[in-house]
This record gives sequence, C-alpha cells and structure tokens, in this order.
Amino acid sequence: MKKIGICTGGGDCPGLNAAIRCVVKHAIHTHNIQVIGIKDSFQGLQSRPVATMELRYDHVADILHKGGTILGTYNKGDSFSSSDGHQKIKLTREGFESLGLDALIVVGGEGTQTMASQLHELGIPTIGIPKTIDNDLPETDQTIGFSSCIDLVNESVMRLQSTAESHDRVMVLEVMGRDSGFIALHGGIAGGANIILIPEIPFTYESICAKIKYRQSLGRNYSLVVVSEGAYPKGEDAKYKLHASGSKNLGGIGQIVADELQKRTQMDTRITVLGHLQRGGQPNTSDKILATRFAIHAVDLAVKGETGKVVVLQNGQITAVPYEKIKNHERRKISMEDDLVKAAEDIGVCLGR
Ligand code: F6P
Repeated sequence: MKKIGICTGGGDCPGLNAAIRCVVKHAIHTHNIQVIGIKDSFQGLQSRPVATMELRYDHVADILHKGGTILGTYNKGDSFSSSDGHQKIKLTREGFESLGLDALIVVGGEGTQTMASQLHELGIPTIGIPKTIDNDLPETDQTIGFSSCIDLVNESVMRLQSTAESHDRVMVLEVMGRDSGFIALHGGIAGGANIILIPEIPFTYESICAKIKYRQSLGRNYSLVVVSEGAYPKGEDAKYKLHASGSKNLGGIGQIVADELQKRTQMDTRITVLGHLQRGGQPNTSDKILATRFAIHAVDLAVKGETGKVVVLQNGQITAVPYEKIKNHERRKISMEDDLVKAAEDIGVCLGR
C-alpha cells in the first residue's frame, strides 16, 4: 500500500476537516502512505484533468476546528443510477486508475456511500466514513456532524425561550433532518422545547393546541415548538419543494404550523428557520473525537485491504459493516421504542399525538 485517496460527498457538516486531517496524519505518521485529496466528491475523478491535491502534513496542520471541507463537496442529486450513470462510472474509474491509488476513503451520507459501494462492486477499493447532520445513516449510532448540529438547536431553543417568555409568544423553530427527526428530538429535548414535531409521528393541531392551552392554564403564557422539516400533519404529506437549482428539498412546514397556531390559539406566534446555520461552523468536541476515531479505523482497514466497508459506531465501539448493510437501505428513523421518545412524553413534551 503506497497511496490512498480521500473525498467528501453530499451536504457538508462540521467535522469533515477533522476526518480529513486524521486520515492524512495517521496514513503518513503510522503507515508512511501518501494521501491524495479528490476535489468535489466523485466529480474530481470525473473531470479532466482530475481535480486533486496532495495532502501532506502541513496541509492539514490548521484545519481540525474548521467547518466545511477543504476538499469541497457536491450534493446536486448526484448518482450513478441516472441516465448518464455509465459514463460517470467510466470517468470515475479511469480517474481513479490514473492516480495509481490503492484505495479510496469516502466521507459521506447514504447517497454517497451507495455510490461508493457501486464503485467497489466494479473493482475500485473503497471504504466509507459516515457523516450527516441528519444522523440518518443505518447501522451507526452516530454520524459526524450530528452532535455539533444539535448543539446549535439546543442553544437556539434556549435563546427563543427568553424572548418567548418576555412577549407571551409561541415560538416555532424549524430544523433540518430530512425524513428523520433526530435533530428535532435531541436538540428540542436538550433546549427545553414544549412541543416537538418529527416525521416519524404525524401530528394533529388539536394535540399541539391542547398543550399550549394547558401551559396557559399553569400561567405559562408562552410555548416553544421545534418542527422537523420533514414533519407533517396526520393525513397529509411532507412538504417537498423544487429549488431553483433543480434539487428537491424539504422546508416550509414551520411557517405553516406557525400560521395555523396563530389562527387557532390567537397567540402571537413567530417562526425561525435555522436552515444552513446547522451545517456551518466549527465541529464540537464530540464530532472531532468521532471523526478522529472513524478516520483511524478507515485508514487501518485500507492498509489491511479490508475494503467494501463503512466504519460505524455501535454501542460505543468503532467497527465496520459491509456496504450491503447500508446501500439503498431506508434511512434510519427514530424508533418508537427509542427511550428518548418515552423520555420526552414522560416529562410532558407534546410530540403532536
Ligand atoms: O442532509 C443534510 C441536509 O442538510 C438536510 O437536513 C437538508 O434537507 C438538506 O441537506 C439540504 O440540502 P441542500 O444543501 O440542498 O440545501
């Protein structure tokens, strides 16, 4: 083993640079292996000339705490299953071979890991590192980026609390997460939200309003509502919208909920959409440590020739699972047996049911 590549794919998140740094340091320091950074996910291998940068110690000296990814990323619905998929795979394979790489470490979410697994089936040795603020990758208890994201949600709910209380308002906070409610549930509980709406539990306005009214009866003339972007009322569907760039994204349910609550409760209601603030900024301690642990394991697997796997966190231990366990699988969702669901309702948080 002489040379490995690394790329970052899908939406960015805090902790990607921490993973890149650790891959480079461990590869050079422990194994004396050269590391080539591939720019903009698999796009870097598909462009001619290939878009790469050699990653030496000095390139990663100061990136541990930086948000985003020094390699760039790409998440415009890229896939090898599209009509030009064969051509993309051909270009990716030729790009990989032209660099003389022995393995490729791919830091990404479910979509990117599915593409990496397709490359592996075609003979390109790949290893995955899971990342996404959504925390929705199957098989791993946590992904890089999630912890930093919920820190922000926690702080946002706490900030909204003081202004909500001062003005006797209902504050609605819309957070990301796609079709999984991990960000809303964890960030909402940590921040002290009174109502948390997640895609796993279709909500009714009756239950939300009953909670707000109950709080009023206790003299609490304000309420904090955290809404996951994928949440939806019972009997309806999640709100996807076509972005001008062509990508289909969730978003907008926060405003709908706020308008409806204003109408039904007559309480002054405001909406905050956290948006991409959740993806930006520095990684927290937990994400830097997780990124470091994942990266060490990924490099060691590459050296042992154990490719075709994704490193994961299971019951506190770093291990790896074959791509088959992740590829094209449904994204992870909150189980109704999750103790945090019970914990929320045990302390009186309304989950919209
Ligand atoms: O998957 C991460 C995520 O931030 C989702 O929570 C969100 O729905 C989506 O990406 C937004 O993506 P974009 O970069 O297209 O705005």
